[in-house]
Amino acid sequence: MNKIFTLSIIFIGLLISTLLVVKHVDRFGPINLTTKTCLITGASSGIGKYLAIEMVQRGWKVIGIARRAELLNELQTQLGEQNFISFVCDVGDIKQIHLISESIKAKGLQPTLFFLNAGTGESTQKWQPLLVNHQQTFATNYFGTIAWIDEWLLPVKSYGGGTFVATSSVAALYAMPGADAYATSKVALLHSFDSLRRQYLYDNIQFSIVLPGPVDTDLLKGVVAQKLPFIHNAEKEAHSIVRHVFAGKKHIEPSWFYAAMMRLMNILPDAAIMKFL
Ligand SMILES: NC(=O)c1ccc[n+]([C@@H]2O[C@H](COP(=O)([O-])OP(=O)(O)OC[C@H]3O[C@@H](n4cnc5c(N)ncnc54)[C@H](OP(=O)(O)O)[C@@H]3O)[C@@H](O)[C@H]2O)c1
Repeated sequence: MNKIFTLSIIFIGLLISTLLVVKHVDRFGPINLTTKTCLITGASSGIGKYLAIEMVQRGWKVIGIARRAELLNELQTQLGEQNFISFVCDVGDIKQIHLISESIKAKGLQPTLFFLNAGTGESTQKWQPLLVNHQQTFATNYFGTIAWIDEWLLPVKSYGGGTFVATSSVAALYAMPGADAYATSKVALLHSFDSLRRQYLYDNIQFSIVLPGPVDTDLLKGVVAQKLPFIHNAEKEAHSIVRHVFAGKKHIEPSWFYAAMMRLMNILPDAAIMKFL
């Protein structure tokens, strides 16, 4: 009995160590540094704003995209006109993404790293229609990400390769009540980026996906959310995301607590979970 127990412990230990080694080794190649230019959507506030600050601090030129011109202008004043070039664009409108991409190309800017981070999320209310919220959420969170890849994949190939990073969420790992539109848009991003990464594995085009837990930004303005434990700060979150992207991580989960908890919640009974929500 003792022998079986010892052998089981050794087997589990070896299995976990192998998985950890594989996870550590399974990373994408170095970031293309030839132009040191990146594009960030949702750069006007929250995680995206701090991604912009972090990238400028690392010596990159940042193309910042969002709708609120006044916030983009403030950031440009803070970071300098040479370092931060902003474009007002509603990513929920694919035509605007095309026009802005053409303007960026016309200025001779050649981004090789994309943080496709713009996102929105309205809860759906019980007994209320779902479709409009789903369409609007997908327009911004999903199609407002994918359209940038369509615009830039071939140019990026001609610049010698590049990296697309999308901001999903731990909401993609467990579907909270009311989050059906938001969570599914984030699941769609997760699967899409996993699929694209495998498809372009040998083409010098990398796809990385970020699954943040709760971060103290405008998006997390609900009263319930403010009571959540281990909420991250946007500046540290952005720093962690950039560090992991440069380390070649394909799945970035800055909050290990929420990533683990969401996965655990999937195997618990709904009634038990609903008592705490
Ligand atoms: N905060 C969290 O707890 C949390 C957790 C997991 C994942 N995330 C994800 O992190 C990303 C950043 O969110 P955040 O937390 O930093 O919230 P935030 O401060 O509200 O930032 C959202 C950003 O997206 C931009 N945006 C939204 N809709 C847009 C549109 N239609 N067109 C262009 N830009 C648009 C906003 O800019 P404008 O309003 O100026 O356009 C803003 O810059 C989102 O994808 C979000 O889903 C957040």
